[in-house]
Amino acid sequence: MSAAPAVRRPVAAAPGALPLLGHALPLRRSPLAFLAALPACGDLVEVRLGPRRAHLVCDPDLVQQVLRDSRTYDKGGPLFDKVRLLTGDGLATSDWEVHRRQRRLMQPAFQVSRMAGYAEVMNEEIAAVLAGWTPGRTFDVNAAMQAMTARIIVRTLFAAQIDERAVTEIQQCLPVFTRGVYRRMVAPFGLMERLPTPANRRFDQALARLHSVIERTITAYRADADHGDLMSTLVNATDSGTGERLTPDEIHEQVVSLLLGGTETTGNVLSWSFHLLDENPQARERLFAEVDEVLDGRLPVFTDLSRMPYARRVLTESLRLYPSTWLLSRSTTAPATLGGLELPAGSIVLFSFYAIGRDARHFTDPERFDPDRWLPERAAGVPRSAQLSFGAGSRKCIGDQFALVEALLLLTAVSSRWRLRGAPGFRAVPEPKASLSTGPLPMTGEPRSPGER
Ligand code: HEM
Repeated sequence: MSAAPAVRRPVAAAPGALPLLGHALPLRRSPLAFLAALPACGDLVEVRLGPRRAHLVCDPDLVQQVLRDSRTYDKGGPLFDKVRLLTGDGLATSDWEVHRRQRRLMQPAFQVSRMAGYAEVMNEEIAAVLAGWTPGRTFDVNAAMQAMTARIIVRTLFAAQIDERAVTEIQQCLPVFTRGVYRRMVAPFGLMERLPTPANRRFDQALARLHSVIERTITAYRADADHGDLMSTLVNATDSGTGERLTPDEIHEQVVSLLLGGTETTGNVLSWSFHLLDENPQARERLFAEVDEVLDGRLPVFTDLSRMPYARRVLTESLRLYPSTWLLSRSTTAPATLGGLELPAGSIVLFSFYAIGRDARHFTDPERFDPDRWLPERAAGVPRSAQLSFGAGSRKCIGDQFALVEALLLLTAVSSRWRLRGAPGFRAVPEPKASLSTGPLPMTGEPRSPGER
């Protein structure tokens, strides 16, 4: 059972519940505004998901308590239960017991020492894509970022043995799949997803194609060789205590988990960064100055990244304002006490990094894009518990370093050569789906001239 803090926190009911539906309508229609308003109600706020009751944890210290006791507050609740049905027991959805073993086996694939190798594959993709950009063309930057991050995760997973057809197939299926997963996560009764609508058929087809192409690729994979890619470490991962390896089914589930966890999340933070930089030209010029000083017009390599701290602050700030994982849930496996609230086993607990990131109690002028709030001396004033974009505890994002390397390479590579300008008057409206997207993001690419540098 988790330890009870001395102070009993206020527990409030979220306003506007309807009979049967509970808060399903605001959660579906305007979830971000709904969630961001709840911290003002209390540290723990009761929300109704259709007929089920849940508590949104608004206080970051209590969120940390939940995240650090992953045995009591296990993956579960409506969000993860539905995803698990669709993706199986991958790392992101597995329960505490299964997860402990999986994480031990998968961690080596994400060691810092592996990142330089992954960065080489990332760089090949980035260089190839940027070479195809046309000066003056207006294009959907979000679609471009999602396509690029999908290609990068597929190629770093299967660098050694995947053909172009399979890369394209996975790239096409992923967005249909993730869109459908979110609709199923928030549906109060789960009836709509069973109807033979065109959207449901597209989703079922994408799911089947995704599983089949992953199966083909895994079957073709040769074990006992290290190709320097993620798959090599998954196929060869051995538990040092028991000598056990991941079974073929487990590898399949991990691949789905990594594809889902590693594509839209990183694509979104890049899209938001380009949008925010366009809205804040001073920040963009500072980024250009840093990138020019370090890169002088060339594309970045892994060893350049530590010399571009402003670029990292831009990403951190974009993630604060638009955290890819904007709403998460847990389910208690035993009776627990959270902020003085008694929770029976099976209680649903929700938390939203979006709501925490916009809470003026933790961030001065929270709506403002201010990368310098992450300068070490200023960041020291932000409670550590409120710095949560990648989660915390044993379920913290396994791909956090991978994501940062990828996003930094992409952000600085684009900024080294291109200025992306939004269409006049256009303002992205956040689309909270499985992750927090900009939606279509029309921007025009202007090549930066050597004279600027
Ligand atoms: C900016 C990009 C990313 C963000 C913001 C992000 C965020 C997160 C967060 C908050 C969690 C914890 C979820 C929870 O506590 O319920 C998580 C878990 C996870 N992420 Fe990421 N992620 C990103 C990129 C990636 C990448 C690139 C990969 C794969 C290469 C990845 C794979 C995973 C996996 C497998 C988990 C489950 C970890 C576990 O439970 O042990 N993520 N991510």
